[in-house]
Amino acid sequence: MSLRNKSVLVTGGAGFIGSHLVDQLIQQDVETITIVDNFFLGKERNLKGARTKREDLKVYNQDIADLDAMTKIMHDEGTDVVFNLAVIPLPASLEKPAWTFTQNVDMTLTICELARKGLFKTLVHFSSSEAYGNSISGPMDENHPLNGTTPYAASKAAGDLLVLSYCRTFGIDAAIIRPFNNYGPRQNEASYAGVIPITIASIMRGESPHIFGDGKQTRDYLYVTDTANAAIKTYGCRNTREKVLNIASGKEISINYLVRLIADLMDFKGEIIYEPDRPADVKRHIANIYLAEDLIDFKPTIPFEEGMRRTVDWYKQNISL
Ligand SMILES: NC(=O)c1ccc[n+]([C@@H]2O[C@H](COP(=O)([O-])OP(=O)(O)OC[C@H]3O[C@@H](n4cnc5c(N)ncnc54)[C@H](O)[C@@H]3O)[C@@H](O)[C@H]2O)c1
Repeated sequence: MSLRNKSVLVTGGAGFIGSHLVDQLIQQDVETITIVDNFFLGKERNLKGARTKREDLKVYNQDIADLDAMTKIMHDEGTDVVFNLAVIPLPASLEKPAWTFTQNVDMTLTICELARKGLFKTLVHFSSSEAYGNSISGPMDENHPLNGTTPYAASKAAGDLLVLSYCRTFGIDAAIIRPFNNYGPRQNEASYAGVIPITIASIMRGESPHIFGDGKQTRDYLYVTDTANAAIKTYGCRNTREKVLNIASGKEISINYLVRLIADLMDFKGEIIYEPDRPADVKRHIANIYLAEDLIDFKPTIPFEEGMRRTVDWYKQNISL
């Protein structure tokens, strides 16, 4: 299945991954691209490149949990495909747990209802590896228990169950991708994975970077364009429907290695400061990516050190201190 001549709608398209997905969609010869984002964390500047390449790019400043408003938008745009990325991020769930949980579930529920009512044909929904919680044993495949530690994780797991239930009960055409940690240009400092932009900004200010805990906690990092391309390939493969696919590198990186790599790339010789653990911080995350390799021929293309070099260069040019 190709996206050629399709009308595509991206929720959360002004955010970090969403804006990269829009950039990749522009290369797919799609008929129209519509973004719906309420700019909770999304930024107009993330869309600068996309707007120059596609002057017809439509951006709605809209809460996607509003069923009536979304019905009208999809009707007006003749939407075929939805990539659902809109989210309230993890840190908000530590301050406002009930609100974050309700928002995230309501957004996904609205998208499922729109699919059930036939307002669009195919959904690619974004889950999160946070839904797994700590790894019980080695690389996590898609059958790993959903042991998320935060209300954010619970909201992501609940969203996935909703999408799968709408597939099974109402026959909606949907696939779920479950990215692990993404990094790259335009990442939001306010998201939990903000260690990269925060470390780069500290060093640029001439301050020491901070590590929470002993730094031995690991994450599976994937450069953001690899995730965006995986989402497009997931749409393209019918065998992904009613399934969850891990999207990650399959490699484990410790926070100590990551912070030291950034320090080296930025020629920082000062001290790294260790702080106490954050609440509910996951200790170990590494993905088993066999299913995505098998179904969509997924292969990460940007090595971590190269991706980090590009990321540091981007922040040096774009961050205002
Ligand atoms: N960044 C990562 O490392 C990562 C890892 C795993 C999964 N994910 C998933 O990928 C998706 C995108 O994450 P991201 O890092 O780009 O986040 P982000 O915060 O940069 O983008 C999310 C976007 O959703 C928008 N939004 C929030 N509430 C909204 C609402 N009610 N209506 C419309 N728009 C709304 C925000 O303004 C923002 O632009 C999310 O579903 C997230 O759970 C991200």
